[in-house]
Amino acid sequence: MQSPFFLAAAAALLVTGCASSPTAEQQAAMVDDARKASGTLVQKLGGELKAALSEQGPDGAIGVCKTRAPQIAADVSKQFGVTAKRVSPKNRNPAGVPDAWEAEAQAGLEKRLAAGEKPETLETWQIVSTTDGKQFRYAKALPVQPLCLTCHGAPEAIPEGVKARLAVDYPLDKAVGYAPGSLRGIVSISRPL
Ligand code: HEC
Repeated sequence: MQSPFFLAAAAALLVTGCASSPTAEQQAAMVDDARKASGTLVQKLGGELKAALSEQGPDGAIGVCKTRAPQIAADVSKQFGVTAKRVSPKNRNPAGVPDAWEAEAQAGLEKRLAAGEKPETLETWQIVSTTDGKQFRYAKALPVQPLCLTCHGAPEAIPEGVKARLAVDYPLDKAVGYAPGSLRGIVSISRPL
């Protein structure tokens, strides 16, 4: 027979174990929130980018990406209670380097793209254990559209004014040479559990 103490300790472990693992319903709600957060970020930034491109031309629009992209990501993070950012293995912003989970997530999405999935529907998510506890992680693919090529396309297709501005603002820029339909990066959403 097990001692009552052992049983009590086992029961306590079971309870804490359950408390830190979200139910299927909680997980579905987190995925839903992450979709809304990434959708808001993409829509807001895309809208401002298009407006800036038509009002100020591509050189001027670089300023929108530079100052507004991080602000919009910060606003969305606050609004949804998550950490939202854009990252890419070929980053332009020095802060846009993916962490291990993000790099693996994008590699997985690229495999699914190559296997025939539509780029605009690609997403993945996971609950991961870290030294700081469990985290919910989510990635949404950012496919390259014709509009993106002005600033992320083949170097010879990028207008001279844009190239000059990028050389000054982003001397370590890796984010050129993309073709339409490829993945420019991901929106990464994370939150501690
Ligand atoms: C007017 C030029 C311009 C256009 C058009 C543009 N970008 Fe960018 N992009 C930038 C600049 C500048 C940065 C670096 C600033 C930032 O976002 O932090 C950047 C950064 C990014 C990043 C963040 C990761 C990194 O490399 O630093 C992603 C992802 C991205 N762009 C995707 C896109 C996609 C997708 C499109 C088309 C829908 C697009 N961009 C169109 C200029 C542009």
